[in-house]
Amino acid sequence: MVNTDEFIDEKIAEIREQVGDADAVIALSGGVDSSTAAALAYEAVGDQLTPVYVDTGLMRKGETNEIRETFSYMDSLRIVDAKDRFLDALAGVTDPEEKRHVIGEQFIREFETVAEETGAEFLVQGTIYPDRIESEGTIKSHHNVGGLPEVVDFEGIVEPMRDLYKDEVREVARELDLEEIISERMPFPGPGLAVRILGEITDEKLEVAREATHVVEEELAEYDPWQAFAAVLGKATGVKGDNRVHGYVVSVRSVESRDGMTARAQEIDWETLQRIQSRITGQNDNVSRVVYDVTHKPPATIEYE
Ligand code: XMP
Repeated sequence: MVNTDEFIDEKIAEIREQVGDADAVIALSGGVDSSTAAALAYEAVGDQLTPVYVDTGLMRKGETNEIRETFSYMDSLRIVDAKDRFLDALAGVTDPEEKRHVIGEQFIREFETVAEETGAEFLVQGTIYPDRIESEGTIKSHHNVGGLPEVVDFEGIVEPMRDLYKDEVREVARELDLEEIISERMPFPGPGLAVRILGEITDEKLEVAREATHVVEEELAEYDPWQAFAAVLGKATGVKGDNRVHGYVVSVRSVESRDGMTARAQEIDWETLQRIQSRITGQNDNVSRVVYDVTHKPPATIEYE
């Protein structure tokens, strides 16, 4: 991308030309990619675009409200409360790929319902360059690439950022005056907290992952990580008060990266790690242990599933 201003003007013109008088939809996840694509497309065609935010129940603390407020200027914004349906669909599912598949399918079903209601002819997507590369290599089944166009019969797909890297997307977001909570937002995977919980997804584990991730994001902001979060592993023995407890093991992960394809675990000072440990075990009675993940990518991936 040579110049952000020019890029934006060019893309707005292109989207107007492609969409014309028709209607369009976008699945808005609140991540920087889909948010920037939505802002660009909204700039181009206004309320002809319906941004659809599906609350899967797998989101971080306060995330749905942040999205509601940030995009309240878009009159056409639709927020779908699908928490119960996602949790029902995920009950008993433990295999990582099956989890992704179930979430992807449910997501498509939710999105399809709204897309059909709007009668939209165009699908806008926040696909960026690394998404396309990873999809081609089928490293994992990305639920936000490739699946949607096949189910709803769209006349065209609009992907204004398909050649950009994440740091370029952030530049565009800043130029479009998207709030910092969006432009500087850490990448958050489509399947949400589900890929940070090993084994079956339950309300209890979700609550632990959500609260612990909130602590980690707060405490590690000064390290300016590409991503920092907490994952819920298995259970281990601990002592709370006078009792031995069988509580969750929470893994803290903080990595730096340019595009998520490779990553380095960050070196965090001991005091900060201890503060994180104490906050997480303090606020969650059912967490017995906190560990710090020192593995780079490769050999690990950033997420846990
Ligand atoms: P991994 O875990 O494969 O992740 O090292 C690389 C980057 O991709 C994000 N990620 C996803 N993003 N849908 C997404 O939109 C997904 O299914 C998905 N899985 C991983 C991950 O957060 C990291 O930034």
